[in-house]
Amino acid sequence: MNWIEIGSINDIPCRGARCIATPVGRIAVFRTADDQVFAIDDRCPHKGGPLSQGIVHGAAVTCPLHNWVIALDTGKALGADEGEVRTIPVKCENGAISIALDILMAAE
Ligand code: FES
Repeated sequence: MNWIEIGSINDIPCRGARCIATPVGRIAVFRTADDQVFAIDDRCPHKGGPLSQGIVHGAAVTCPLHNWVIALDTGKALGADEGEVRTIPVKCENGAISIALDILMAAE
């Protein structure tokens, strides 16, 4: 797997996200309160809202537009809503975050 380093965990606010522009679209990289890191498409499965601007709670994010709740680990909408976004393999080693972008390229 070809990992691409995208920065330090300290670049992401706790319970916040950073949006990364990639050749295959915007990716939202989240940091939870307990310093877990997740990466998903920055595009709500409902109407494309910017999930990176949502509110992080536990391992989920609430979309800023119409409040759908998306699980960060599976990319699936929670509750009564149906839909999902792509999840991207992500790892954090010694504070450095990397994503597996080649997987995305292969999927396009
Ligand atoms: S666009 Fe995200 S809830 Fe509607």
